[in-house]
Amino acid sequence: APPLSINCVTFPFPLHMSEQQLLKPDEWSYCDYFWADRKDPQGSANISGFEVLLQKQLKGRQMQKEMAEFVRERIRIEEEYAKNLSKLSQIPLAAQEEGTLGEAWAQLKKSLADEAEVHLKFSSKLQSEVEKPLLIFRENFKKDMKKFDHHMADLRKQLTGRNAAVEKARKSLADRQKDLELKTQQLEIKLSSKIEEDIKKARRKSTQAGDDLMRCVDLYNQSQSKWFEEMVTSSLELERLEVERVEMIRQHLCQYTTLRHETDMFNQSTIEPVDKLLRSVDPAKDRELWVKEHKTGELRPVDMDI
Ligand SMILES: *[C@@H]1O[C@H](CO)[C@@H](O)[C@H](O)[C@H]1NC(C)=O
Ligand SMILES: *[C@@H]1O[C@H](CO)[C@@H](O)[C@H](O)[C@H]1NC(C)=O
Ligand SMILES: *[C@@H]1O[C@H](CO)[C@@H](O)[C@H](O)[C@H]1NC(C)=O
Ligand SMILES: *[C@@H]1O[C@H](CO)[C@@H](O)[C@H](O)[C@H]1NC(C)=O
Repeated sequence: APPLSINCVTFPFPLHMSEQQLLKPDEWSYCDYFWADRKDPQGSANISGFEVLLQKQLKGRQMQKEMAEFVRERIRIEEEYAKNLSKLSQIPLAAQEEGTLGEAWAQLKKSLADEAEVHLKFSSKLQSEVEKPLLIFRENFKKDMKKFDHHMADLRKQLTGRNAAVEKARKSLADRQKDLELKTQQLEIKLSSKIEEDIKKARRKSTQAGDDLMRCVDLYNQSQSKWFEEMVTSSLELERLEVERVEMIRQHLCQYTTLRHETDMFNQSTIEPVDKLLRSVDPAKDRELWVKEHKTGELRPVDMDI
């Protein structure tokens, strides 16, 4: 069976497909699954398999940008929360509470400032260790993608052109062969040296057309083989970039959870001195202190004598 030509790319006839092995079995590699064009759901234009891979790259970059934006919002909440805590810790409510209870209360208010500090540090680390690195993109990324796009599109265009040349040469050969056949039939009807001469000419032209077709197919084959090689190397390069992207993002999201755990630990430690002072709140001691300072006289009244 002849091979199938789909959008100027030659594929094996379906019966022969099983003879093809994947280039990288068991890897789900880009280089094995994007050979055909995909019909664009809305438009009439098809997009090449390679363009599908390029779109994935552009989307990946956009997703990374949006993650950075999300982290920025997280930072903003943290900063606002810290500001609110810090403001609250300054409010002089119940500032005149006294004794051990007063000390515990003062520490509780101070703990808000400490907590604010913890949240502020968290937000600044989020910025330097998560948001900023997420916003570092490969240099020249868009330019490189465009270069890939143009390069592969050029190779496809060349393939299309050479495919058209093959078709033309094929048709030309068929015409020549028909012509030769016609002339041969004429000779059967009527022998003539003029017709013999014409047949020689027609045979020469037919041979030439055959050679021409061979040459066109050869050029087409060269073109397709070049496209094939570039498809493999380019899609493997895109695959490498995607692995790099996913690992890089994972690493920075892990940094987020590490920082978040740390924050809880530091946050906890701001509460510990408050707990300690609360444990030593002693109403008897507070009464003693208060009485000593504010007492108005310990002589008790007695009964009247007559
Ligand atoms: C899209 O691809 C199909 C084959 O899959 C082909 O028949 C059709 O002509 C292509 N359309 C365009 C606009 O290239
Ligand atoms: C901070 O306080 C303002 C009002 O004082 C409030 O609208 C806002 O929700 C608070 N933010 C956080 C993160 O607690
Ligand atoms: C084109 O490629 C096919 C498959 O590799 C090969 O069999 C054929 O000889 C080539 N044709 C020409 C004209 O080079
Ligand atoms: C840390 O602070 C936040 C905000 O006050 C609080 O919701 C959280 O429970 C605290 N975590 C610990 C472990 O203290």
